[in-house]
Amino acid sequence: SLGAPSLGAPSLAAPSLGLTVRPRRNRQSEWARRLVRENTLSTNDLIWPLFVIEGSEARDVKSMPGVQRLPIEGIVTEARRARDLDIPAIALFPYTEPALRDPNGTEAVNADNLVCRTVRAIKAAVPDIGIVTDVALDPYTSHGHDGVMDGDTILNDETVALLVAQALTLAAAGADVIAPSDMMDGRVGAIRTALDESGYGHVQIMAYAAKYASAFYGPFRDAVGSNATLVGDKRTYQMDPANSDEAIREVALDLEEGADMVMIKPGLPYLDIIYRVKETFGVPTFAYQVSGEYAMIEGAARNGWIDGDKAMVESLVAFKRAGADGILTYFAPRVAAMLKAVK
Ligand code: PBG
Repeated sequence: SLGAPSLGAPSLAAPSLGLTVRPRRNRQSEWARRLVRENTLSTNDLIWPLFVIEGSEARDVKSMPGVQRLPIEGIVTEARRARDLDIPAIALFPYTEPALRDPNGTEAVNADNLVCRTVRAIKAAVPDIGIVTDVALDPYTSHGHDGVMDGDTILNDETVALLVAQALTLAAAGADVIAPSDMMDGRVGAIRTALDESGYGHVQIMAYAAKYASAFYGPFRDAVGSNATLVGDKRTYQMDPANSDEAIREVALDLEEGADMVMIKPGLPYLDIIYRVKETFGVPTFAYQVSGEYAMIEGAARNGWIDGDKAMVESLVAFKRAGADGILTYFAPRVAAMLKAVK
């Protein structure tokens, strides 16, 4: 007949491969896998980003299933929960009422603004948790940019002056860590000098050092209400996703200017940057698993397309493998509860 001759049933007889080294030997039991595990995730690695809103009602963030904007009292409750879960720090992001937004982000330097009141409330109720506060004007500007504008141009040095004032306002409210997320040139040095001269020498700076102009911030911008108003994009100050050497240069500058910790953002698409930064500088290095990354995992999980818990843990341990000392993640309470349960 035509066609290939039949090979018959496959034989299960083992050929002699002559293998001395068999990597599978170390994977054959749970105890052995645990013994040879190179990286572990712990609650000490977590920073939990939280969205705060005026009023008394929690509001869902539609593009981040499971995440809500919470009023101050709700944030205080979550801060207590974070402490009880051994999460070292939380990061606060305000939703500013549209009426309070203007072209210069004036509300950012109001000592009684939403985020300052939240910081004071947390400090009073849960004094032993670290509070990270963002420095950037976008929650406060009517155009949604992180800085002030002249026509289409984001002004660098004028913006830095406002960011310094914002940082001092947050430090006065009791923030432990100032996290400039604006990507203006020279802002870390200017903020460090101002903090030191104003009696806030103890306040730490976690610089969003390599922050990319990313599509993965979309759900966050929904949460803080800057998506609807954003004019254009942020590519004149946030980095080009195609660049890697430039990230090293940005991190070097922020460290020279006095950053205590550096952050790479987004997370999973930039594991190579995390790895390079940790290898090059050996400083405390953080990853931000951003809103769009959360939405992808959680969205797929809620559709039954992936196992959400497994994908969450796998994504977080990947940051540790890449060299991150810690991770900002919306999964923080969920993974912390899991980690505590297995202790
Ligand atoms: C503000 C800021 C952003 C994020 C953190 N701080 C948005 C942006 O730069 O547009 C994004 C966080 C996230 O997506 O989870 N500058």
